Amino acid sequence: MLRLNISTPPARRSCRIFRRVDIMRGMQIPSDHPLLLRIVDDLYAQGWSQQNIFLPEALTLELAAECHKRSAEGELTPAAVGRGITQEVREGIRGDHIQWLEPGEVLACDNYLGLMESLRIAMNRRLFLGLEDFESHFALYPPGAFYLKHLDRFRDDDRRMVSAVVYLNQAWLPEHGGHLRMYLDDNVDYDVLPVGGCLVVFLSGEIPHEVMPATRDRLSLTGWFRRRATEVFV
Ligand code: OGA
Ligand code: MN
Repeated sequence: MLRLNISTPPARRSCRIFRRVDIMRGMQIPSDHPLLLRIVDDLYAQGWSQQNIFLPEALTLELAAECHKRSAEGELTPAAVGRGITQEVREGIRGDHIQWLEPGEVLACDNYLGLMESLRIAMNRRLFLGLEDFESHFALYPPGAFYLKHLDRFRDDDRRMVSAVVYLNQAWLPEHGGHLRMYLDDNVDYDVLPVGGCLVVFLSGEIPHEVMPATRDRLSLTGWFRRRATEVFV
């Protein structure tokens, strides 16, 4: 299994929610909303959660349109694996094109960030995870692109605690492929179809997963809730 994953956001673009004011205009829901409580309970009980109806349909469509627009304008770039100076594009490992999100650019994106902020608060209240920020990017997998089995954590950086993927694909059918395959305990594989509006949340360091190739463009917003880095004093 690969333990590398993940390009990190370029240093000049800070993609984190570090000030509440940035996402104040976004959509938020109370942290004790039943939908959020279900996710938190699932995470506690099994380390992952799937909510087929999470994003409102109108928001899913707006985000899909935004992703297509950015792609057409050439703003999505091939994702890299690794971190720092070892970061490189390797299509044999992952073939998606991404763009990191910034708060305050587009209302639809802020609404998504607001929902993720509500989820962050809900997880902290009930699971005491100490999640401090959230980083996320649009991802577009062209037909045939995939992401081999991996964990969403760097060897030298364990800040990523919880991964969250929302899918933005209309009329997606099983024959289109593009499943997220999660490798759960007891040798169980669990496949999620990337249907628009669906949210999958899982513990970044514990659930190996992979993205299977699809026959059409596969769109998502993928993000990570992070805790503070542990300082080592010597
Ligand atoms: C990732 C990832 C899963 C998906 O970007 O690290 O595993 O279903 N994405 O898109
Ligand atoms: Mn991943």
